[in-house]
Amino acid sequence: MKKQNVAVLGATGAVGEEILNMLVERAFPLGELRLLASPRSAGQKKVVDGKEYVIEAVSEDSFENIDIAFFCAGGSVSEKYAKHAVKAGAVVIDNTSAFRLKPDIPLVVPEVNGEDILKHQGIIANPNCSTTIMAVALAPIHKKAQIKRVVVSTYQAVSGAGFAGMQELEQQVRDYVADKPMEANVLPVASGEKHYPIAFNAIPQIDVFEEGDYTKEEWKMIKETQKIFNEPLRITATTVRLPIMRSHCESINVETELPLSPEECKELLRQAPGIEVLDEVAEQQYPMPIFTSGKDPVYVGRIRKDFSVKNGINLWVVGDQIRKGAALNAIQIAEFLTQNLG
Ligand code: A2P
Repeated sequence: MKKQNVAVLGATGAVGEEILNMLVERAFPLGELRLLASPRSAGQKKVVDGKEYVIEAVSEDSFENIDIAFFCAGGSVSEKYAKHAVKAGAVVIDNTSAFRLKPDIPLVVPEVNGEDILKHQGIIANPNCSTTIMAVALAPIHKKAQIKRVVVSTYQAVSGAGFAGMQELEQQVRDYVADKPMEANVLPVASGEKHYPIAFNAIPQIDVFEEGDYTKEEWKMIKETQKIFNEPLRITATTVRLPIMRSHCESINVETELPLSPEECKELLRQAPGIEVLDEVAEQQYPMPIFTSGKDPVYVGRIRKDFSVKNGINLWVVGDQIRKGAALNAIQIAEFLTQNLG
């Protein structure tokens, strides 16, 4: 397979670091590797696969000779630099929300709509982490029994807010135990005016409030899922931040047109790509973040009938949002490109 020259923009961040780890772990055919971040990190050194790289401050000229550029430094950085990367001939796999809902930019979960990758015109968008995890679990159910309506509530990890979110939870726990006041500067929205501690708390706000008093994260789950499935699926969402380090959890209620028993649903999900069913209630087996963190699959458990409607199923879905929710999905897109475009 032809080696690809790769740039990672946001190489010092939570997602960027995971992309670097996973490129090595999955034996991606790496040619040149360029690590890009803000001027704050320029000159720092980072070892990838035993080789030392110097982090460069991103500029308009950073993408010469690059085949694939992973962007994970935030929406405004993507908006500023993606066009320069595309102009230089790179394919941008963008982890931010900058381009996800643009009609001519594919938004891809390879297990669901991998074929859309080939429609790209230089940029491919990686969906929101909660959306990706839900889409993987819903796709086989939709194919078999046609989804009528989805009600999802999330229980999201602090790593969704990057390293800063993880550091803040850890510090708050230390302060609490030491009987010191907890300081909050990052959650729910780093740039916002009001912050709440996440330790020993649940914050029903992820990102800013938008239309209908839904948060941006809730709208992402609705609109991005509709785009990935290429159908106006009826979805409503409530997204909540919990003091979990890694792995988002989702309680998903699915109403289908056709009947689907819990046993059929379990079998269907067992056969589906990217999913691991963990559902032995007699043995108290179900997915939990402490076991799923750092792992690739989307885990599904607590699969049971919703007795309140004619055709309904309840699911408990857990996935490491830095892996499948971000880095792994992005690398799967890159692998598909490499295999299909030579
Ligand atoms: P830096 O470490 O130099 O600030 P996280 O999501 O974990 O907070 O990481 C964000 C990533 O995006 C980091 O690698 C960060 O680099 C990078 N980043 C943030 N702002 C910029 C910017 N204006 N230009 C380039 N990279 C940026």
